[in-house]
Formats: sequence, C-alpha cells, structure tokens
Amino acid sequence: MAKYLVEKSGPLRGEVEISGAKNSVLPILAATLLADGPCEIRDVPALRDVDVMCKLLRQLGCKVSEDFRKKIVTVEPPAALQNEAAEELAIRMRASILAMGPLLAKTGRAKFPLPGGCAIGARPVDLHCKGFEAMGATVELGDDYVEARARKLVGGKVYLDFPSVGATENIMMAAALADGISTIENAAEEPEIIDLANFLNKMGAKIKGAGTATIRIEGVPTLHGCGHTVIPDRIETGTFMLAAAITGGDVLIRNVIPDHVRAVIAKLLECGVSIEDTDEGMRVRGDVKPLVATNIKTMPYPGFPTDLQSPFMTLLAVAKGHSVVTETVFEDRFKHIGELNRMGAEIRINDRKASVEGGQPLHGAKVMATDLRAGAALVLAGFMAEGVTEVGAIHLVERGYEDFVEKLTALGGKIRRVEE
Ligand code: EPZ
Repeated sequence: MAKYLVEKSGPLRGEVEISGAKNSVLPILAATLLADGPCEIRDVPALRDVDVMCKLLRQLGCKVSEDFRKKIVTVEPPAALQNEAAEELAIRMRASILAMGPLLAKTGRAKFPLPGGCAIGARPVDLHCKGFEAMGATVELGDDYVEARARKLVGGKVYLDFPSVGATENIMMAAALADGISTIENAAEEPEIIDLANFLNKMGAKIKGAGTATIRIEGVPTLHGCGHTVIPDRIETGTFMLAAAITGGDVLIRNVIPDHVRAVIAKLLECGVSIEDTDEGMRVRGDVKPLVATNIKTMPYPGFPTDLQSPFMTLLAVAKGHSVVTETVFEDRFKHIGELNRMGAEIRINDRKASVEGGQPLHGAKVMATDLRAGAALVLAGFMAEGVTEVGAIHLVERGYEDFVEKLTALGGKIRRVEE
C-alpha cells in the first residue's frame, strides 16, 4: 500500500490546471455503450476510476483505446454487447452501475453485482430500479446482484424521491433509446447531468431540461458515435481553492467554470478568502484576511457539494471560531473527523451535524483516507500541522485526483508519495 508523507508547508503559490471531471467522464464513458459507432472522449483525466470503467467496457465487448498523454479515450462498441458485468470489476467502483441503463436499453437485459456500500453510506440503487420499472422493465433484486430485463423499453414517468445523480444519469441513458417520451421529476441538477445530456444529444438523442428538476427524453431508434470534451472537475477546483485558502496562499486556478462552484465561492468569501475571476482563471487568496469560521450545509446542486464537505472541514478546523457542518446527502460521511481530531482538531459529531472549535494547533499523525475527498482533506490538514503527517489508503485519493502530488508540489506543498 502507498501513503503520502505530508509536512507543514508555507502558503501555496503559483498556478494549477484543473483536469476533466471524474463524475462527468464516468457516465459519459458508460453512455458510449448506446452508440452504433465509435466515440472519442477528450480531456479525460488519468484516474483509477477511469481505468476501471475502461476495463468494464472492454469486458462488455467494446474496443477501448486510452491515450493519457493526449487525454483521449476512444470507445467502439461491438455489434453484440455482453450484458452481465464481471463482478471483480463492477464491485471495485460504484459508478460501474451507470452501464446498466445503456445495456438494458441496447440489449434488453443487464445484470450487475450490487455496488457495495462504502465509507460514506449504504449507496442503494432503488431509485435507478424505479426508473427502469417506469419504462416497463422487470427488475430482480438478489442479495448481491440486480438484474433488469425488457424486450423494449417504453417511455415512462418517474419521480425521484431524492435527486440522485446516478439514478438521473442511468434513467436518462436508458430512456434515450426507449419507445416514446420519458420524464424524470425531481431530477438531479448537477453540471455533470448537463454534460451527459449534451453528449447524448450529440449522439442523436432528444433530451430537454437537463440541469433542471424535470428532464424530458424523447426516445429515438438509434444513436451514433460522436466526439466530446468533458467539463472541468468542479470538485478538484474546490479542493485547490481550499488549498490556497487554508495555507494563506495565492493561487491562480486555470480551466474553471465559476458557475459550477458558486456555493463554494460564497462560503469561502464568508471565511474571509479573496476570490477574483480573471481572464486567466480564478485567483484565490488566503493571505488577505485571517480565516474566520462559517456554517456549512451540504445539499444537492446548486447547494454546497457533499464532496467538498470534508476538505472544507479542514479549513474550519484551522479558522478561528465555532462552526457547524451539516451533511444532508450521505448518512455516514463524517469518518474523516476522527482522523482530523487525531491531528489536534476539536470536532464533535451529533448525528448528521458536526461542530468545529476552529483554530486549534494541528500536529502530524498517522491517519487514513476513508474516501477520496477525506484523503484530500487530510493532506490539506497536513500542510498546516507541525511535524509529518502520514496519510494511508491513498489509492482512494488517486481514484479522483489526477497528478495530485505533482500539482500540490508545484505550488510549494510538501508532499511525497512513498510505498509502504
Ligand atoms: C454521485 O454519486 C457522485 N459520484 C458522488 O461523488 C457524489 O458524492 C454524489 O453523486 C452526490 O453528489 C459520481 O458521480 C460517480 P447519489 P451517486 O445517487 O450517484 C441516495 C466523489 O467523491 N440514493 O446522488 O452515487 C444515496 O444513498 C463521489 O466523487 C438512494 O437512496 O450519488 C445518497 O444518500 C462520492 N437510492 C443520496 O441518494 C438510489 O437509488 C445521493 O446519492 C440512489 C441514491
């Protein structure tokens, strides 16, 4: 197992380029299964999760070529797709389930191992199945698998009890080839949903309303291959904004869509951080005023993103003052708090709320990443801690952050990757 050795670092300064969005490229790669020809996906980040998704597409019969120097992945589906996901691949990454909707629509069947719960919660797929059933599929839920069948999907209407990102994506992809019109109500509104809908529409789909709570999909008989450049990663953007803020630095972040990080900008401004949107990119300065505490409540987009809850908590642990963090999206996404407290933070948990007494001095410790975003939070805490912080389980971090060590080191961060 590899780990990061992180030392107290001065203010991070310089420039960083944001990579393509992990949570956009994964559903878009799954959507290539729907095409009758090759698709070229551009600005693809070199991530473990992307590698797993490419392996899954190959296992399903696709020809996949990855050129990470050019950041391009090309996918050419076969005439006849496999429609059972290999267990050893699909259980490695929850996002594998996003291939289910395309396979169901394309082959009339899809069988997947149930994506295990993970460090942040149960992660059920009941809303995905509700959508498939609304389009006439029969769904069988085994104790460790889910299978959906439909000779031909027909347009249907589904209300999502929670605006699930994955369920919205899976249903939208399946509906693209259904017979008739489908509607998703209370749909997720994340930018990645819009990016996926744009990709599907380039393939010949007829999708309207992506990015709003109601998405209308008019099914078409076939979809053709196309090219697409994925949007920048708004969660990586927020992570580097926080790195500049927490270390009192001055960082220019390139390849940013400011509209995708409005909630993060608002919260950082409340903490005294200076943020300037320039032609070159977004300039974030934590060296203008001392950091002060604020309260955070994670919500579905456009609310504050749950994926930045843990890195933001590192800022609140460093800032002066008392703050309350409420996690409303996942039921168990506070596992990083025990690790931060071992570094000297003072954070108490009460169900889905955490209260932070900020400003405690942090010291290095041996800590473990519990999910990829928690891993990033611990690295940022290590930059502010006396002594050396060892962050373990960093394979989780490498699932979602391209060249994380290189990008942080280039800004003056003292971080090294070592094999155990
Ligand atoms: C996506 O996960 C992201 N992953 C997650 O990012 C992100 O945290 C999450 O959306 C929320 O924004 C990808 O896009 C690959 P959900 P997803 O379905 O689709 C419940 C990261 O760090 N739910 O919106 O799995 C679920 O239990 C990762 O990059 C059901 O109850 O998230 C959770 O409480 C972590 N039934 C809530 O909805 C369902 O059928 C949100 O889950 C589906 C979900």
